[in-house]
Amino acid sequence: MYSRILFCLLLHGTAVSLVRGDCNTCTYPSEVACVSATQFQFCVNNSPTGPVNTCPNGMVCTGGATICQGNGVAPAACSGCNECNLNQTFACTGPRTFALCLGSSVISNITGNCAPYHVCNIDTPNICGNATLGSPATCSFIDSTPTPEPTTTPTTDPTAYCRLIRQNGRFPYGTLLCSTCRQYIGCYLLSGIWYGAIYTCPGNLFFDSTSRYCTKTVPARCSLGVQNIQLFNITLE
Ligand SMILES: *[C@@H]1O[C@H](CO)[C@@H](O)[C@H](O)[C@H]1NC(C)=O
Ligand SMILES: *[C@@H]1O[C@H](CO)[C@@H](O)[C@H](O)[C@H]1NC(C)=O
Ligand SMILES: *[C@@H]1O[C@H](CO)[C@@H](O)[C@H](O)[C@H]1NC(C)=O
Ligand SMILES: *[C@@H]1O[C@H](CO)[C@@H](O)[C@H](O)[C@H]1NC(C)=O
Repeated sequence: MYSRILFCLLLHGTAVSLVRGDCNTCTYPSEVACVSATQFQFCVNNSPTGPVNTCPNGMVCTGGATICQGNGVAPAACSGCNECNLNQTFACTGPRTFALCLGSSVISNITGNCAPYHVCNIDTPNICGNATLGSPATCSFIDSTPTPEPTTTPTTDPTAYCRLIRQNGRFPYGTLLCSTCRQYIGCYLLSGIWYGAIYTCPGNLFFDSTSRYCTKTVPARCSLGVQNIQLFNITLE
């Protein structure tokens, strides 16, 4: 039964072609969603539902006009996971976790979690989209092994922070809209030892972790859908 449906979809399934090979997104009108690089589910009420189907050997799920295609012909779905977004603000590292990119294409060691009912979406400027409102997760739920949230302690010691991040420059201090969103930590190396200091943006500006400047716009890490961020074992409140 399923193989007949699959065969039919492989030949005739049509849908909007998606550039990156989106994940967990129901395509119209084929009504399927890729849920990993090689697997898909059918959609009911625009939500992936029921058994997980696997593409034929050597094929990847594309979510495009043809659901499964030869590897290399079209980009596999769920490939936006662990990649910095175009704005170099963040990367989704799991369905509900992310890491900041700090204005480069390299994923930093500052990681974070989405708030309840939110999922990390590479196309959302605010990092975590409201899943109840239909925002899909960029990373596969099936491929991700849930890791327990690390036990972290809040710290106000900028030197401890700089000894963990071990890089020169300005870094985000926290996610509290009225206080730490407006501050940043400057790290510097002196005689081979890392030191840090806390600075406050002038006026009512916020510290933008991508441009590394103080700006008027509320930074992504300080938006409602973000639960917290941390640097190894320290919470950045
Ligand atoms: C993250 O931390 C690890 C371990 O300290 C280090 O090897 C790596 O270079 C760091 N990554 C970045 C982007 O700084
Ligand atoms: C990227 O940056 C532009 C300009 O700041 C902004 O309008 C846009 O929403 C951002 N897009 C994402 C996906 O973050
Ligand atoms: C997410 O969307 C639901 C449904 O509209 C809404 O009730 C909830 O308040 C939203 N959560 C946030 C944090 O925006
Ligand atoms: C984090 O871990 C480092 C060593 O890995 C330790 O020196 C430091 O005290 C810890 N910080 C907190 C806040 O627990």
